[in-house]
This record gives sequence, C-alpha cells and structure tokens, in this order.
Amino acid sequence: MESLLIDGGTRLKGDVRISGAKNAVLPIMAATLLTREKCTIKNVPELRDVNTMVRILRSLGAEVEFKRGTVTVKADKINGIGDYDLIRQMRGSICILGPLLGRLGKAKVSVPGGCVIGVRPIDLHLKGMRALGASIRTSQGYVHASATKLKGSEMFLGGRSGPTVLGTANVIMAATLSEGKTIIDSAACEPEVIDLCDFLKSMGAEISGVGSPTIRVNGVKKLKGATHTVIPDRIEAATFAIAAAATNGEVTIKNCRPDHLQAVIDKLWEAGVKIEKNGRNLTVKRGARLKPVDVTTQPYSGFPTDVQAQLMALMVRTPGISIITERIFEARFAHVPELGRLGADIAIEGPSAIVKGGSSLSGAPVMASDLRASAALVIAGLCASGTTQINRIYHLDRGYEKIDQKLEKLGGKVRRVNVQGP
Ligand code: EPU
Repeated sequence: MESLLIDGGTRLKGDVRISGAKNAVLPIMAATLLTREKCTIKNVPELRDVNTMVRILRSLGAEVEFKRGTVTVKADKINGIGDYDLIRQMRGSICILGPLLGRLGKAKVSVPGGCVIGVRPIDLHLKGMRALGASIRTSQGYVHASATKLKGSEMFLGGRSGPTVLGTANVIMAATLSEGKTIIDSAACEPEVIDLCDFLKSMGAEISGVGSPTIRVNGVKKLKGATHTVIPDRIEAATFAIAAAATNGEVTIKNCRPDHLQAVIDKLWEAGVKIEKNGRNLTVKRGARLKPVDVTTQPYSGFPTDVQAQLMALMVRTPGISIITERIFEARFAHVPELGRLGADIAIEGPSAIVKGGSSLSGAPVMASDLRASAALVIAGLCASGTTQINRIYHLDRGYEKIDQKLEKLGGKVRRVNVQGP
C-alpha cells in the first residue's frame, strides 16, 4: 500500500501548473463513443480514473491510446456492454450510458457503486433516458436500457440537491443522436458540462443554452471525429490556492481559469487571503491575519462541494468559529475525524461542521477516505508539526496528477512510500 509522508511546517513557494480537469475529461472520453471516427483529446491528466476510463472504452471495443497527455479514441465497432468490475470502480463511468444508448440504441451498464460521500443515486440519469423514449430496467446490478429510436423531449432534471452534473452530461450525449428537439430544464451549469458540449459541438452536435439551466439539443443523424483540449482543473487550482494560504506561502497557480473559480476566490478573500488574478494565473499568499468564514456548498456557480474539505483544513488553522455546510452530498464529512487525529476541533451538527479554528496541529497517521478528503489531509499535514502519514493515497491518485511531485517543487516535504498495511 502506498502512503504519503509529509513533514509539516514549510511554506509553499513558487509556481504550479494546473492539469486538465478530471471531471471534464471523463464524460468527454465517453462522448467519443458517439462516433465511428477518430477523436483526439489533449491536456488529459495522468490519473487513475482516466486510466480506468481508457480500460472501459477498450472493453467496449474502442481502440484507445493514451500518450503524453493525449488520448485518441476510434470507436469504430463497439458493443453496448460495460464491464461490471471496471464500471463499479468509479462514478464517472455511468456517463457511457448516454453515448451507448444514442449510438447503438441499447446499453447494459453496471450500477456504479455509492461511496463514502453519500448514496449517489442515478434516478435522474434514468429519468432523462426514459424521457427520450428508452425502456430501462435494472437487474442483477446492471441497468439495461434500450430504444428503437430515441426521440427528443422536454424534461426537468432537477433533484433534491439541485441539478445533476453527470446526469445532464449523460442525457445531452444521448440526445445528440436522437430524433427531434430535446429541452433539459434545471440542467447543470458546471464548466465541465460546458467543456463537454464544446467537444460535442465540434463533433457536429447542435446544442444551445450551454452554461444556463435550460439546454436545448437538436438531434442529428451522425457525429464526426474531432480534436479537443480539456479545460484546466478548477478543483486542483482551488486545492493549491488553499494549500498556499494554509502554509503561509506564496504560490502562482499557472494555467487555470480564474473565471471558473470566482466563488472560491471570493470566500478566500473574505478569509483574508490575498489573491491576484493575472490572465490565466492566480497568485495566492496569506494576508496579515486570517478570519473564519461560513460557507455553504452549492451547484455552480456557488461554492463547490469538491472544495469543502480543503477549505475546512484552512479554517482549522484560522482562529475563530467557522460553519461549513454541505448541501450537495449527505455524507461528505469523512475528513472530520481524520482532521481530529491531527488536533482539529470540529463538531458536526446535521449538514454543518462547526470548526473551532486556531488549534496547532501535530502529525499522525491518518486514512484517506475519498479524493477531496485526502486533499484536506494533505493540506493539514503540510501545516502540522512533525510527520503526517496519509494512508490509502490511491484516492488522491484518482484525481490529482503527480500531487506529491508538484508539492515537492513548491518546497513541501512530501514523500511517497510503500508501507505494509491492510
Ligand atoms: N443526484 C440524484 N440523482 C441522480 C444524480 C444525482 O439525486 O440521478 C443527487 C446526488 O446524490 C447529489 C446531487 O444530486 O446530491 C448532485 O450530484 P451530481 O449528479 O451533480 O454529482 P455527479 O455528477 O455524480 C460530479 C462530480 C463530483 C462532484 C459532483 C458535484 C464527476 C466524475 N464527479 O458528480 O466530483 O462532487 O459532480 O459537483 O464529474 C470529485 O471530483 O471528488 C467528485 C466527487
């Protein structure tokens, strides 16, 4: 088992280059199934989840190459049956359902597992596919979907916690090859959905309203191959910004999209962090005194759930009381007990974490439970005295490209080691 050893107490200084966005590239890779022609995707991060998607596409019969940040896919002859063991490894794999249904009129895809952040149902994905005319049944852990011909329709895709990101992506992909016009109300506005639609449009799809809650898709007969460059990962950029502030460092975050990060930048400004925007770069340094903040996670353009854990790690270091409320996922506080092992004082009241900040942290062995919880532990470890050992770092490798090397380049004392363990 690989672990990360962090000797805390150094300030992060220098430049870090942001990789392509994990949550944009996974649906974009799935979208290549919509055409027989070759697609080229650039700025693809070397991540565990991307490699899983490569294997899923291959298992469906596509020819896939992944070299030096570029993925090429030729899905000439494909079958509609997703490999159970591969698909259940990550939630993002559900977005092969829409393209398979759109292209082949049938799909058999295993239900992706729930995970430590909540139940994560797929009812809205299925509602959208049914609205397009698909028959759907679930049996023995698989979703079986079929349609003689998908037909455009009007649908409302909002759920209990607002729109669904991958659900919107899935339905848009299926609708591109359906007959007639589809209108999706309460569509997700996330930049990752916009990036997917940009790719689909370059394949010949007719989509409008992208980035707004009402998306219109005019079905076309065929899509063609295209080349696309994936947007920078806004969550990785936010994570490095928070790490810079937490370690009292000064970091220039290069190749990011500050316009995708406004809610995070605003919250950090409120906390007293100094952030300067300069085109596609952000320079982050801690102000004279940090202040506690209250934050509630929301769909885009609100504060992202994927940055909640990292902000909590910063608030642990900030004297005063912060209230962090999670409104997207019902169980996304797995980092709280682990931060507690390092000395944090956090209580959970329903969907809110009440952070009594200002405690000094001291290194300890901790367990990474999910991707963003792991990132919070890295930030806390960088601030703690002594050594923090983060176990199960495969979670980090699912979503952060070479995070240990990037932190080392900024002066962080971070080592990847192999340890015996369960
Ligand atoms: N929901 C339903 N029914 C559905 C789908 C979603 O009730 O059919 C609920 C969810 O349970 C949740 C809310 O709707 O309460 C929003 O979930 P959403 O569908 O938007 O999440 P997702 O598309 O499965 C993506 C990202 C997540 C990110 C969320 C929210 C990918 C691969 N995953 O998940 O990323 O947290 O959007 O922004 O794109 C991460 O990167 O660490 C991560 C978990």
